[in-house]
Amino acid sequence: MSGKEPIAVLGMGAMGSRMAINFANAGHEVTVWNRTAETARELADAHGFSVATTPREAVNGAAVVVSMVADDEAATAVWLDPENGAMSAMSSSAVGIESSTLTPATVRHLAAEAVERGLTMLEAPVVGSRPQADAGGLFYVVGGDAGVLEEVRSVLEVNAGGIRLVGPMGSAAIMKLAINGLFGIQVAAYGEIAGFLERSDIDTDTAFGILASLPITSPALQRIVGLFGDRQFDPNFPIPLVSKDFRYLGEAAAGLGAEVPISKTAGAVYASMAAGNYGNLDIAGVAMRYLAP
Ligand SMILES: NC(=O)c1ccc[n+]([C@@H]2O[C@H](COP(=O)([O-])OP(=O)(O)OC[C@H]3O[C@@H](n4cnc5c(N)ncnc54)[C@H](OP(=O)(O)O)[C@@H]3O)[C@@H](O)[C@H]2O)c1
Repeated sequence: MSGKEPIAVLGMGAMGSRMAINFANAGHEVTVWNRTAETARELADAHGFSVATTPREAVNGAAVVVSMVADDEAATAVWLDPENGAMSAMSSSAVGIESSTLTPATVRHLAAEAVERGLTMLEAPVVGSRPQADAGGLFYVVGGDAGVLEEVRSVLEVNAGGIRLVGPMGSAAIMKLAINGLFGIQVAAYGEIAGFLERSDIDTDTAFGILASLPITSPALQRIVGLFGDRQFDPNFPIPLVSKDFRYLGEAAAGLGAEVPISKTAGAVYASMAAGNYGNLDIAGVAMRYLAP
């Protein structure tokens, strides 16, 4: 593929909507579907998308089908619903791209269902959040066939700052959960230490400034530490999605026989916050669990 292929984007949440806008701005004909139809209609009015009432309708005529939804349950419904799912109507010449953060088991299940139907599919979860999506600078971790990746590379590049094939279907889900696990553990740890520092007699700006200036703090964490002082926790990567990713990491680790005690502890912190009054905070808002009132 090298032209302006028709693309169906399933899921008009924070990430899917931004991807669809970038596709439209790059000249692709974009058809969108969202479970809550009103969201899709509003975006379509603003950005010139066509709107479909089901995933099945959305994939009609699409050369590429991108799914960007919340979780395993949502992705399974979007692709496999017997009446309205994308796979019930996708063309055998189209390529399906699953970009949601899912368990490897679900990705492998989707892959097997695609093979059974003679359909072609890649998994391409993304690293980066809303600002990277706005800028078309997401990092795609890809699982699947190298030839299929080359077929859709120009389409992925619309939203990509980087693309890396890591192995067969399911392996990108593992890589993505590993990345988010490491990030989430660090954010929770910095939140905890920030609470410790705030309760000391060290000036908070000085303490956070020293933390942020040292090589122990990665560039991603420097940004996070910068949010603690002003409690700027408007969501980019909301805590419920972080909690879901830790749950999936735990499941995938159990399947591999890998011990992940630190991930489990961090995951429990995010889960309790997602269940409480912090569900609409950014990942950095995990610090609210620890910062001084
Ligand atoms: N936000 C980030 O920073 C980020 C970064 C990288 C990867 N991700 C991953 O990307 C995916 C999407 O994230 P997001 O931030 O766009 O999430 P979001 O804003 O919460 O959007 C979730 C989307 O999934 C749909 N959905 C939820 N349950 C569904 C179901 N049962 N059936 C069909 N559709 C359903 C929602 O539809 P409604 O509008 O009807 O609710 C919405 O379109 C997630 O897997 C997330 O983990 C997120």
